[in-house]
Amino acid sequence: MNTAKMPPLMNIGEIRRALGLNSEASSRDKHGIFGEMPPKPIESIRFHCVTCDHNTSGICPDLKEDKRRCPSCNSPLMYCQMCKTCTSGKEKYKMVVCDQCHESFVTDTTIAYLASEERKAREIVLSGIRATGKLHLGNFFGAIRQFVEYAHGDNLCMYFIANWHTLTTCQDPMEIHKNTIEIAMDYLAAGLDPDRSIIYAQSSVPEIAELALYLAMFQSKNQLEDLPTLKDLVKDKTFISMGHLYYPVLMAADILGPKATVIPVGSDQVPNVELARDLATKFNHRFGHTFTVPRVGLKTIKVPGLAGGKMAKSEGHSSVFPHDTLKDIGEKYAKYGVTDTGKVRRNDPGNPENCLSVYPLFKIILGEGHPSLTSINESCRSGKLGCQECKSNLACLIDEQVAPFREKRKELEQRRGFVDEVLRFGGQKAREIILPTLQTVRDKLGIILS
Ligand code: ADP
Ligand code: TRP
Repeated sequence: MNTAKMPPLMNIGEIRRALGLNSEASSRDKHGIFGEMPPKPIESIRFHCVTCDHNTSGICPDLKEDKRRCPSCNSPLMYCQMCKTCTSGKEKYKMVVCDQCHESFVTDTTIAYLASEERKAREIVLSGIRATGKLHLGNFFGAIRQFVEYAHGDNLCMYFIANWHTLTTCQDPMEIHKNTIEIAMDYLAAGLDPDRSIIYAQSSVPEIAELALYLAMFQSKNQLEDLPTLKDLVKDKTFISMGHLYYPVLMAADILGPKATVIPVGSDQVPNVELARDLATKFNHRFGHTFTVPRVGLKTIKVPGLAGGKMAKSEGHSSVFPHDTLKDIGEKYAKYGVTDTGKVRRNDPGNPENCLSVYPLFKIILGEGHPSLTSINESCRSGKLGCQECKSNLACLIDEQVAPFREKRKELEQRRGFVDEVLRFGGQKAREIILPTLQTVRDKLGIILS
């Protein structure tokens, strides 16, 4: 870079003084984000474009707009809060990375994009998966498949790794850290595009923890104690912590912070989403409209484990994983898959509704009304289709559904830097979205940050 050619650059204090503003940074400035800029025309700021070494001045009539571009090479130009220079940047995942110090920024363009104006998003879709271990078919078909469907529509999607929630079941730091990255890879391998969906770790958004604290003040302890999700969470535990009880409140903050409208989750999580709805309604009633009351996603599915019941990470022996090979999947169903216990011999007529692990999964994957499902149903009832054959057909169908995921997942394992970057950028965007809601709540509760 030819610094000799560079114009003297202004720092933010000088910019603000030039504009007749006080020197205190706005709340977004405090987060190192280029925002809340003055409406007044300004001619004197000079930007240096690192890409083409071009100096530009007076091209921006209004600093609030981040439509500044280098007239020579079209790089975005900005004031970098970190290195305090008026410089150029590179666009990445709808953000700008400063060419001088390589810090990234959420720009007003990003905000417009996130606020759905550009995308005309219909819904703000939000969900999370805990960093508790290998993804199983319950997570895959019950959650991630829906996440991808929503992301392919005109929605603003926010998907995160609930690593704080993970602490309720696992407190091994190595495991939590490793699994956080693994779930991020799973999201990407399943087809989520970091340019379209915001992918982040819950812990990179401290605003969520603060919001949860405020929400807790309006949540009765009795209601938390009665939740079936709590009973499920602590069923094998002798020690029940405040964290277990607080779990749904934290989840409500995840949801209400970004004003999510739709929450795609498996059927087990529905009571927690309902609690978030209650909290939003209660708070709005008392303090005026603040939160959006979210809805549960359209499909609330329960993927059965091999023995029936719910497939869960805690029931490893009853789980099938997208990482399993076709042979593994086939063997697991052949050995452990529980079907209709009334159908003893191959040719006995069976009842698919009594099948615990195979027919329900066909139903989930194919969808009700699918011709192949009807044919399986009829062949089972007539005794033409034996359970072993049905299990091996299911294994093939599962394998076909998860094969692209498995391949992409392998590829991503070699691209750890990319995954880290996705999480870093995602965390920044999520903070930017949640902060205004948190600020409103602080204001309504009279909480001052000095
Ligand atoms: P687990 O319950 O296996 O520990 P998580 O709690 O992280 O996994 O769940 C992540 C998402 O996957 C949630 O939306 C949850 O409802 C969904 N999910 C988990 N297991 C199943 C299942 N067996 N069927 C349907 N959805 C499931
Ligand atoms: N509790 C969810 C689960 O176990 C994970 C989660 C945390 C979540 N926060 C959320 C899901 C907010 C949806 C929305 O699966």
